[in-house]
Amino acid sequence: MTRNVRIGLLGCGNVGGGLVTLLGERREQIRERHGIDLEISSVLVRNGEKKRRGVDPEIITTRAADVFASDPDIVVELIGGVEDAARFVGAAIDSRRSVVTANKALLAAQGSEVFARAKRHGVRVGFEASVCGGVPVIRTLRVGLAGDCVESLTGILNGTCNYILTLMEEGQSFEDALAKAQELGFAEAEPSLDVDGHDALQKLTILSAIAFGGVPAGEVQLSGIRGVTLRDVRRALREGRVIRHVASSRIDDGVLRLSVRLELLAAGDPLAAVRYENNALVVRARAAGELTFLGRGAGALPTASAVLADIIDIAQAA
Ligand SMILES: NC(=O)c1ccc[n+]([C@@H]2O[C@H](COP(=O)([O-])OP(=O)(O)OC[C@H]3O[C@@H](n4cnc5c(N)ncnc54)[C@H](OP(=O)(O)O)[C@@H]3O)[C@@H](O)[C@H]2O)c1
Repeated sequence: MTRNVRIGLLGCGNVGGGLVTLLGERREQIRERHGIDLEISSVLVRNGEKKRRGVDPEIITTRAADVFASDPDIVVELIGGVEDAARFVGAAIDSRRSVVTANKALLAAQGSEVFARAKRHGVRVGFEASVCGGVPVIRTLRVGLAGDCVESLTGILNGTCNYILTLMEEGQSFEDALAKAQELGFAEAEPSLDVDGHDALQKLTILSAIAFGGVPAGEVQLSGIRGVTLRDVRRALREGRVIRHVASSRIDDGVLRLSVRLELLAAGDPLAAVRYENNALVVRARAAGELTFLGRGAGALPTASAVLADIIDIAQAA
């Protein structure tokens, strides 16, 4: 028997639009394979006049209340930012609806409150898309390694920084590489969240909470990539090494240590081979050993793939 599951979609930009496209392609297979028919009941945007490919204009609204009035089973938050997103996610949870979000800024700032609230109301929060886009690292840490003990996480979590460093290896200046990243839509017009390391730290904070939850946090080391020059990059290459912006966390003396900084890596290091906008995560676990994940950490369809996986997971469990 097929069960109808209604989705209230908050935001129809890059990722929201990607979700609409992917659901359009996959709806029939999901119905056959999982016995659930996923239907978007309402879509919240800021600009209600703009046409959205694949979306019936009748269900587009600029009022969040309309989304809740459309009686969704799951609310999918893809507007970004913290304040409005927190309000809408809170309202969804309070009305006993599970939430799926890609919003690392919200989770890094208010994750514990969001999860505690969801627990109180007996609903779930899916957030696979918030770190490493289409690479399922959160599910791996939560489910795949549930019986193991994670010892360290080391990764390249910001595709924009990695893209800039790769272009610098090809001879472009920092400024030209950043402009190219902005032209291709990898970097925001105001790029400090990426290039100063805050985005990578937000993602590392989310992953570390899953891997090492409950361990008291110690000092955080944070630096970005603005100071890197072409001379630095060339000198590293001459020495057979590469410069990468590396996020890592581990427990040291009972304290969780987080660091996001530039590192000189030997050519054989798994992270040295990560180029352009790709993301990677190396997990060291006591029993499983070293696991490496590599893939597209952003973009409409990779991120929508993770969002849709969470929707299916939650819809099936309901
Ligand atoms: N882009 C990626 O590759 C990527 C990867 C991983 C995670 N994420 C996360 O996914 C989320 C969405 O990112 P995105 O790139 O899709 O953003 P985006 O392209 O800017 O889209 C945001 C959407 O939300 C709507 N919106 C924003 N604020 C709103 C508000 N206060 N009320 C109503 N509607 C509002 C916008 O409406 P209008 O269209 O009318 O402006 C737009 O449709 C963010 O949390 C981001 O960090 C993105």
